[in-house]
Amino acid sequence: MLGNFMYSNPTKLYFGEDSLNFLKDELKNYGSNVLLVYGGGSIKKTGLYDKVVQILKDNGKEIFEDGGVMPNPTVEKLYEGCQRAKENQVDFILAVGGGSVCDYAKAVSVSTYCEEDPWDKYYLRMEDVDNKIIPVGCILTMVGTGSEMNGGSVITNTKSKLKIGHVFGENVFPKFSILNPVFTYTVPQYQMVAGFFDIMSHILEQYFSGEDDNTSDYIMEGLLKSLIHSSKIAVKNPTDYEARSNIMWTATWALNTLVAQGKSTDWMVHMIGQSIGAYTNATHGMTLSAVSLPYYRYIMPYGLQKFKRYAINVWDVNPQGKTDEEVALEGLNKMEEYMKELGLVMNIKELGVTEDMISGIAKGSFILDGGYKVLTEEEIVDILKKSF
Ligand code: NZQ
Ligand code: ZN
Repeated sequence: MLGNFMYSNPTKLYFGEDSLNFLKDELKNYGSNVLLVYGGGSIKKTGLYDKVVQILKDNGKEIFEDGGVMPNPTVEKLYEGCQRAKENQVDFILAVGGGSVCDYAKAVSVSTYCEEDPWDKYYLRMEDVDNKIIPVGCILTMVGTGSEMNGGSVITNTKSKLKIGHVFGENVFPKFSILNPVFTYTVPQYQMVAGFFDIMSHILEQYFSGEDDNTSDYIMEGLLKSLIHSSKIAVKNPTDYEARSNIMWTATWALNTLVAQGKSTDWMVHMIGQSIGAYTNATHGMTLSAVSLPYYRYIMPYGLQKFKRYAINVWDVNPQGKTDEEVALEGLNKMEEYMKELGLVMNIKELGVTEDMISGIAKGSFILDGGYKVLTEEEIVDILKKSF
């Protein structure tokens, strides 16, 4: 049952090999001072940086650079970006990179004119924005997070060992995003498959909630089937345009608020994964792959019918002559086979987690109540031990 909701997503998308051609049209809508935000240098190697700078110059923009955004952007970097944006009276932020760069750009956009510490306001107290917001546009180079069409902005505080995501409202969504699958070809294999699993996890976090008949679940099963099909192709041939373009589009729809309609949503894999990230700075998608199966095997009895449906509709498990538990487990076993085929990290030890970190990681995992089982801290410890 879907209930009452308002649905709107304000981000305009330009998709495909020609999509960068539309940047100039969008730039006309903003003032002349542009903060060009990017990561550790991949865009310089691929030549995208030169192309973007040229377009900005041709359109009369003054460029202020903010490079060096690290994977899992930190609060210190955020303070630095805000200062740069403020002193140069930036009119527009152009993010060129992966989810970290897009998330960071949104954080700078809401924090530059924030009169108090943005970490306290947005990430600890989870308050809404009540100050000027600098508009953001994205050119995406790495697929997975959905940051190109949502209000998510995840920041890490290395001192307090907390990695927290604030999901901002429509006023903070990117004004536009440019999605060219070819720009993602150069993403290293490890990051690429981590991104693929991030997409899968976003879908599962929303799918494994509720017991009603819900359109969102049918959409998600379709997205999952497309992702599984295309990711198996892309892992062997990263320059397969058909596969990479389907994956890029799936990633956007996996986390742009559409499939969350009518769902309570779980997000515990992400809560645990983010806490692992705060301790280890590990790649986001791999923190999710490392804990997913121990988590799902643990909560399966509490949402058995949905796990059975998942096995049949997504993994083509034949239910004949099997108990519900057997069907559900077979689905998770097939998921495990697929994850190994992709080359995902399957345990937290490989991410640098040591035994003495486990209780801290469990403490730093925010416990949410939208899934099939509200976990206790002790249960998170157990899941982490099973993931070790
Ligand atoms: O920094 P550069 O040099 O650009 O290199 C990056 C980085 O090292 C590289 N890369 C990206 N595009 C490339 C490329 N290398 C070669 N060619 C290209 N075309 O890939 C590395 C990883 O990039 P990053 O942006 O960190 O990855 P991702 O897109 O997975 O973003 C991860 C961040 O997003 C957050 C995560 O927590 C993490 O901080 N998330 C954001 C969400 C949201 N906004 O809704 C939801 C997610 O669940 C997630 O939490
Ligand atoms: Zn994620």
